[in-house]
Amino acid sequence: MKIDVPSPIDLKNYQDAKEWELTANLKRPWRYDFFAYYAEKIAQSSDVQSQILELGSGPGFLGKYLLEHLPDIQYTAFDFSEVMHTLALHKLKPNESQRATYLLGDFKQANWQKGLDQYDYIIIHQALHELRHKSHALDFHRTVISLLQPKATYFVCDHLFAENAMQNNELYMSKTENSSVLKQAGFKSVDIPLEIQGLCLFECKV
Ligand SMILES: C[S@@+](CC[C@H](N)C(=O)[O-])C[C@H]1O[C@@H](n2cnc3c(N)ncnc32)[C@H](O)[C@@H]1O
Repeated sequence: MKIDVPSPIDLKNYQDAKEWELTANLKRPWRYDFFAYYAEKIAQSSDVQSQILELGSGPGFLGKYLLEHLPDIQYTAFDFSEVMHTLALHKLKPNESQRATYLLGDFKQANWQKGLDQYDYIIIHQALHELRHKSHALDFHRTVISLLQPKATYFVCDHLFAENAMQNNELYMSKTENSSVLKQAGFKSVDIPLEIQGLCLFECKV
C-alpha cells in the first residue's frame, strides 16, 4: 500500500489559492504555449461547439483562455476548491460565464465522475500530481475514459520526474511511466506534442 504524499499547501484555503494564482504564470510563462496548443486543436475540430471538461481547473486561467478564444465551446470546470472556482469566475466576461459550468468535486473520492457528462475534450493541466501518488493514475485515467465521447481527446499535462524537472518519483512520473500508464488505462494513441522545461503534454485517444 503506497502512502500519499501530503500537499505542502491547502488549495481550498483563500491565501494559498491566491498565492498559487499570483505566482503560477510568473514561474512558468510557457504555460500559455500549452493553452494555445489546446485552443488550436479544439479550433481545428469539426464540431465547433465542443464540450470541454477541465479537471483540477484551479483559478481558471485555462478556462478563461479557451472561452475567450473559442466562442462556441461549452466549458466545465471541476475542482474541489470553492475558492478556486470563485477566483476563476471573476475572470470571465458575461458572454464567457454563460458558457461555463463550475462543479465542486474531489477526484480522489470513489465515483467522483458521477454527475459528469460525456465530453469531446478532457484536459488536466498541472493537476495530475494532485492525486498525491502516481499509483492512483491508472484508475483515474480509466475513469476519464468513461467520460469521453467517441473520437474525443484527453490532454494530460504535468511536470515530469526527470533530471531537469521534478525529483519526487512518487508524485511525478517520467515520460515513459506516463505513456505506459495511459496505454494501460486503454488509450491506443499517446503522443507528446509539446514539452517545455519539464512540463510535458500527452495527447491521448482511445
Ligand atoms: C496546481 S493547481 C492547477 C490549476 C490549473 N489546472 C492551472 O494549471 O492553472 C491544482 C488544482 O487542482 C485542484 N485539486 C487538488 N486536488 C484535487 C482533488 N482531489 N479533486 C479535485 N480538484 C483537486 C486544486 O484545488 C487546484 O485548483
